[in-house]
Amino acid sequence: MFDTTALNQQRNFFDGHTDIWLFGYGSLIWKADFAYLERQPAYITGWARRFWQGSHDHRGTPDAPGRVATLIRAQGEVCHGMAYRITPDVLAPLDVREKNGYLREKVPLTFLAQRGNVQAAKATTEGLIYLATEDNPAFLGEASLDDIAHQIAHSHGPSGSNKAYLLNLAQALRELGTDDAHVFAIEEQLHRYQ
Ligand code: BEZ
Repeated sequence: MFDTTALNQQRNFFDGHTDIWLFGYGSLIWKADFAYLERQPAYITGWARRFWQGSHDHRGTPDAPGRVATLIRAQGEVCHGMAYRITPDVLAPLDVREKNGYLREKVPLTFLAQRGNVQAAKATTEGLIYLATEDNPAFLGEASLDDIAHQIAHSHGPSGSNKAYLLNLAQALRELGTDDAHVFAIEEQLHRYQ
């Protein structure tokens, strides 16, 4: 399996910073198993969430990969998620967790709510995402919603079922009050496989 851990440790966009805003758009929204200083709902523009990345190590296996979220560039689209303020040491274990094709990228992010008077004038900041682009070997790419749902319904890996990943994400997005047509359409299709 291709492993991005070493590459990511060269991608020090926030060298010298004592804290970093990490924007989660997938499992990081509902599975924050790392230490963070605070978190805030946030969004990024020009990106759309898609279940186009293969998961050979978490929600599937090398022989039967699952599908997990990545982002594609999409002009005019808004992708909602959760931003976590972390200390830089938190990134090393995340690099390992997301090693199957995800690279650190720097993006502008906007906090959804005003963060008090002090922060109100600074509602946008530079943040970090983990991004799996189409040139990584685990990238599966576009498929019909039915094919994506079928694959998700039947995939399991060391971190659990692929279906639980999708359903947890859909629920977390509902709790954030955000609409994501791609995720909710897959969720709808998944009910056919229950
Ligand atoms: C995320 O939630 O942002 C995420 C999770 C796993 C890999 C990449 C990104």
